[in-house]
Amino acid sequence: MALQESVREVSRSVPVARHEPVMVGEIVDFLRPAAQALVVDGTAGGGGHLAALMAAFPGARFLAVDLDPEAVRRVGETLDDERLEIIASGFDCIPELLASHGLGGAAAALFDLGLSSIQLDDAERGFAHSLDGPLDMRFDRGTGVPASELLEGMSETEIADLVYTFGQEGRSRSIAREIVRARPVETTGDLARAVCRAVRGRPVKPLSRVFQALRMAVNDEPGRLARLLSGLPGWTLPGARVAFLTFHSLEDRAVKRFFIDDPAFTPWDPPWMAPSREEIRRNPRSRSAKLRMGVRS
Ligand SMILES: C[S@@+](CC[C@H](N)C(=O)[O-])C[C@H]1O[C@@H](n2cnc3c(N)ncnc32)[C@H](O)[C@@H]1O
Repeated sequence: MALQESVREVSRSVPVARHEPVMVGEIVDFLRPAAQALVVDGTAGGGGHLAALMAAFPGARFLAVDLDPEAVRRVGETLDDERLEIIASGFDCIPELLASHGLGGAAAALFDLGLSSIQLDDAERGFAHSLDGPLDMRFDRGTGVPASELLEGMSETEIADLVYTFGQEGRSRSIAREIVRARPVETTGDLARAVCRAVRGRPVKPLSRVFQALRMAVNDEPGRLARLLSGLPGWTLPGARVAFLTFHSLEDRAVKRFFIDDPAFTPWDPPWMAPSREEIRRNPRSRSAKLRMGVRS
């Protein structure tokens, strides 16, 4: 308990961490690598977990990546430490990074999926339905296609399928119809108004689901997660501990199945944990988090 408190203090004191890291104490307790080991943070974000891990494991070396070059720059400036290599990259490219930087296999790894509060709260990034801004949603604004352009090129059926599959939203057809009617959908406000016209009544859940679905498509989140999982046995050492924070059932199911089905991993006991009531009270954005844990055979 004392360790958990002090780890929380460290992560709170990191000036870049406007993102409140979730289940920090539980993650530190679980990962606990051998001294000199390599620890990977596959989603550096605001640097909160990374700062806590670096404070808790002074003998370890660290590789941190994030798809968002702005996040990497901020964290790199704040956590300037010779034990840390931080690189703008997708986590599905970690095997190549380990090889090109002469780093061996990892003894511990963390993947905190989705987006950070820093990204969500910045209207210019286009992630939030409650803030008006350009409908972009790319984690890396230097590559790929913004959400507005993606929607321009999709048929009504493709939009409906996307909202249904990635957003798990039942009113996908009427939402897709309104989106097509509203094109060009250039801002988050344009998209939010189209969704509200389609669902009437209580739009918050459908809005969140549509925005989540589009973000997943823009950043190829399911594809990158699948590639990360299939490569994981290749770059983790026997006994390595791997933790995922998931925030919706699609990604949680993929990680759960991986730890059960892949012969190179065994689910931890317990296989998952949720944030405490106290944490959810302190940080309501943690409420949908699940910490999934597995161990490399
Ligand atoms: C929830 S935040 C991580 C927060 C971080 N753990 C902290 O304590 O501040 C998720 C981060 O993952 C990044 N991300 C999303 N998909 C990624 C991927 N495929 N590869 C690497 N980073 C990714 C996002 O850019 C975002 O910064």
